[in-house]
Amino acid sequence: MSKVKDSKLSKEGLEELEWARENMPMLARIGERFEKERPFKGMSIGVCLHLEKKTGILLETLMRGGAKVSASSCNPLTTDDRVAAALAGEGIEVYAWAGQNEKEYYQNINRVLDSEPDLLIDDGCDQIFMVHMKRKELIGKIKGACEETTTGVTRLRAMEKAGKLKFPVVAVNDAYSKFLFDNRFGTAQSTLDAIMRATNKLLAGKTAVVIGFGWCGRGISERLRGVGANVIVVETSGRLGREEGPAGQHKALEALYSGFRVMNLEDAAPEGDLFITSTGNINIITKKHFEKMKDGAILANAGHFNNEIDIGELAKMSSKRQRVKENVERFVMKDGRRIYLLSEGRLVNLARPSGQGHPIEIMDGSFSVQALSLEFISKSRLPPKLIPVPREIDDEVAELALAVKGIKLSKPTKEQQEYAASWEEGT
Ligand code: ADE
Repeated sequence: MSKVKDSKLSKEGLEELEWARENMPMLARIGERFEKERPFKGMSIGVCLHLEKKTGILLETLMRGGAKVSASSCNPLTTDDRVAAALAGEGIEVYAWAGQNEKEYYQNINRVLDSEPDLLIDDGCDQIFMVHMKRKELIGKIKGACEETTTGVTRLRAMEKAGKLKFPVVAVNDAYSKFLFDNRFGTAQSTLDAIMRATNKLLAGKTAVVIGFGWCGRGISERLRGVGANVIVVETSGRLGREEGPAGQHKALEALYSGFRVMNLEDAAPEGDLFITSTGNINIITKKHFEKMKDGAILANAGHFNNEIDIGELAKMSSKRQRVKENVERFVMKDGRRIYLLSEGRLVNLARPSGQGHPIEIMDGSFSVQALSLEFISKSRLPPKLIPVPREIDDEVAELALAVKGIKLSKPTKEQQEYAASWEEGT
């Protein structure tokens, strides 16, 4: 029995879903095949994702493949209540609404787990973590899971290293056809879109400080520049959470050579009109930074969890914390400066109502990786490890993304293939 905010919202939710469906041709094609082959027949899938219209089309696609689907949200603020109501009316068990408190949030994840799923889809790893900590009896039944986002994969990598991961999890985030487009172009557009929707302020001419220059930070910085902001990039040196890939100092150099100003946050604090965190780490903007910020500075977080901005400290430093309007709060500091926080420091690009998630075409690609990876798990016997998305799936999704846009690539000639495989020929 679903629990949503208001089932009367389903008419509007159906309209939202229709628009998403019309613009997700990749999932449509996958769904057609799933309908014939029924890869999830007799299986139950437990979902913990941002429940909005694009996610709805993924869930429909899984149902077309024969699955029974139960879903909660992976964040207390990101459920589109209209869509949740519509999905509940389509035969999906939905336990989600925007504005859940922490207790309700975990209760809803638990309710999904009560469906005793065979497969899981998670975004941020709260669901997988709950199975490992509180619902251990389900471990034997769960064939595997897919994880959507960088933060979740980082957590899973730590679990695997500690020998605590008890079933296979496919790192959807790490597929090229996910992170190169979703993290970079998707986060960029959805973050700016949400900030503009929440504040209605001009970005041109503003100094915007982007903290974290991973794929999300790269995209956000590029788009901010595109709308005329002066962008400062902040990175830290070293590698956090993963050994491979560029270190922070490589990313800082890349930002510099891309034409951005680069400095540490202490120096950027007095300059910024807008601060956007995208690090996936904790206590990034703290007391020493709030102390130096200008009157009117706006803070937003584009990372998965609401722990990048030290809101507790900001509140302690303030004489007043006031709601201004939806998605905007004002902190009046004891010296009279005002600092504005968007969406309670939760991921701004998804927190309702200003956050609407990544553009539809982007999620069509990311959720195609999800659907095909889940099918892969359902057909495989995998060890309890973090599993990369199979290269065939990664390549197929990119090929499909081009195909639905009518773009055909030629294959390298035989001569070119032989040349690429040879070492004898030089100048
Ligand atoms: N919509 C649904 N899931 C999303 C995600 N992980 N990022 C952005 N938009 C989304």
